[in-house]
Amino acid sequence: MGSRIENVIRTAVQTFATKPNGSFVNTNVSHNINILRQLLSEICPADDLGLTRNSGQPRFPLNLFSSRTAPVSYMEIFENQTVSIGIFVLKDGASIPLHDHVGMYGILKVLYGSLNLQSYSPIDLPGQTNSSFIHQPQYLKAKRFPISCLNEKDSPAILSPSEHNLHSIWTNGGSASFLDILAPPYDPDGTLNGGKIRDCYYYSDIGEEEGIPSNSEIRLLKMTACPPSFWCDSITYCGPEIKHLQKELN
Ligand SMILES: [Fe+2]
Repeated sequence: MGSRIENVIRTAVQTFATKPNGSFVNTNVSHNINILRQLLSEICPADDLGLTRNSGQPRFPLNLFSSRTAPVSYMEIFENQTVSIGIFVLKDGASIPLHDHVGMYGILKVLYGSLNLQSYSPIDLPGQTNSSFIHQPQYLKAKRFPISCLNEKDSPAILSPSEHNLHSIWTNGGSASFLDILAPPYDPDGTLNGGKIRDCYYYSDIGEEEGIPSNSEIRLLKMTACPPSFWCDSITYCGPEIKHLQKELN
């Protein structure tokens, strides 16, 4: 029997594998997502991922204003054309600004610490495509959900192409990390998706649309550049051996 993380990777690939026409091979995706949620709930960060509370943390107190220290680190675990699986480590005070996941499913499991998550569901689903880009519009109307506070005891948060598809994430007292499964993966170069680019876009919540009361949860989002306060460096995966999966599942 493989390791727990190997089981997660295999189940994620089985869950989200698609046919050439884009439909899922698996006919019961929501059932499999529940299996994945359960598997992730059983993950032990130290034993199953080689992750300690201090992984990705600097040896000295973090100065978020220092240009040399990334506020967020990313540890890639696995990626193929179907899924990307990795771990984000947020230093104390760091945030991942509001961003989207066009046409994607996502599963987010907090491993260490506590995170605030605010999500939005797009009301006008984008989906306009041309030959090379999967587009998001400059302005997007979306339903805003209350901030939820997630810690390592909580079951994973889920997003789908139509629900909770945009979110921002920030620490809630201390550093924190979460495991992220995205299907299909971002593909800013189009290398996984036959040249079709699937990029990540950032938004700001600019408030209510004209005619909508200011306390409404229907918000207008405007595409923005990635805020300069956010960038990522990478850290090396040091969990159980899974290199054979990269070859086998590609
Ligand atoms: Fe995200």
